Amino acid sequence: MGDFMRQYWLPAAMSSELKADGDPMRLMLLGEKLIAFRDSSGRVGVMDHRCPHRCASLFLGRNEENGLRCVYHGWKFDADGNCVDMPSVPTHQDFKDKVKAKAYKAAERNGLIWVYMGDRKAAPPLPLIEPSLLPAHDMTVNFVQRSCNWLQGLEGDIDTSHFGFLHVGEKKVEDFDPDDMLRYTVLNRAPEYHVADSPWGTTYAAYRPAEEGGTYWRFANYMFPFWTQTPQGEFATHVGARAWVPMDDNNTMFVHLHWASAKPSVKPIKKDGTVLLHVNRVHDYQPNTTDWYGRWRLKRNEANDWGIDREAQRDGRIFTGINNIHLQDQAVTESMGPITDHAFEHLGPSDRMIARTRRRALQAARAFRDTGAAPPGVDDPNVFMQSRSGYFILKDGVDWRDAYAQQVGTAERPAPMPQAAE
Ligand code: FES
Ligand SMILES: [Fe+2]
Repeated sequence: MGDFMRQYWLPAAMSSELKADGDPMRLMLLGEKLIAFRDSSGRVGVMDHRCPHRCASLFLGRNEENGLRCVYHGWKFDADGNCVDMPSVPTHQDFKDKVKAKAYKAAERNGLIWVYMGDRKAAPPLPLIEPSLLPAHDMTVNFVQRSCNWLQGLEGDIDTSHFGFLHVGEKKVEDFDPDDMLRYTVLNRAPEYHVADSPWGTTYAAYRPAEEGGTYWRFANYMFPFWTQTPQGEFATHVGARAWVPMDDNNTMFVHLHWASAKPSVKPIKKDGTVLLHVNRVHDYQPNTTDWYGRWRLKRNEANDWGIDREAQRDGRIFTGINNIHLQDQAVTESMGPITDHAFEHLGPSDRMIARTRRRALQAARAFRDTGAAPPGVDDPNVFMQSRSGYFILKDGVDWRDAYAQQVGTAERPAPMPQAAE
């Protein structure tokens, strides 16, 4: 699975995290300790943290004049990993042309830094993940670290039946405005749904009866290798994607991209001022540190029981006692432990999307291992542009695939397509 993941570009940091000639940053990706820095010309370099001379950490390095200089013996490396200065040996014994730092390709688009850790000489194109094509001023980007395996985090996004409990377990139909489609998730907490493989991964469509011969649909996706699109938003304007980037086996960086000027997908406050949904897009972070695991950690975590309020849980104000949607998801998936023991699970009919996605990912990883053929979407980044999620109501009797094709055909496309291959 690690080799499989290396075939794809990974969203790794926000552009704003690296300043030209600023401090080198520790970056943990796919179990590798890396250093990221921005050189004097603005280029981003990402490389193994160990200096290829005698392995002192380049974290201690001096970011100066278009390169990172190791403080041990002064060797200097540019953003591509070339050794450009070797001042500790006499000039006639200089062998800097023979030394290279283990550097990975980095790319930047609309405020997001991507890293390619595969072994192709020419990296594949950046994936056309729709929200990542929006200009930086129109894209909301959130990073949040999660203390568990990436798949465990990801599976929360494709587990549709938890919504009616974890997030709105305390709600009654009367709590919602009559035009709020979310009320169907409370009206029927055990939806039926379809699941299928799709060119970008897997797709599900949960459905419930709506009024006057209509069906309330909620579509969501898994996209290779670690992306999801959740159903929480009106389909036509729901331009968003969520990446579960493995830092290592036990830690994940969640990267949430969203169309900033889309109309809000949920109405958290009712007209009379009562709180309807405990949404919190502004996360309560600990201060970032320079540690390998020091970026974008929440204040609420296992050590403080995610701030669970037992009184609110008991008196029915908040089903979980945990006050905000993201934190509710964070708490349940972290509470499973770093890597859950799948032998202990009992998957039910409501978990078909999870089972299908595990199988799809395993089959794709095995096919890559056995044939070496490029995994889905690596050379054809366009498949991701056909992937959309969200809810809508359609008259009864429309086949779910037709319903999807119809909605995706008329959906808004706010992001300009990139001009040339990158
Ligand atoms: S260890 Fe980096 S220059 Fe010697
Ligand atoms: Fe959730």
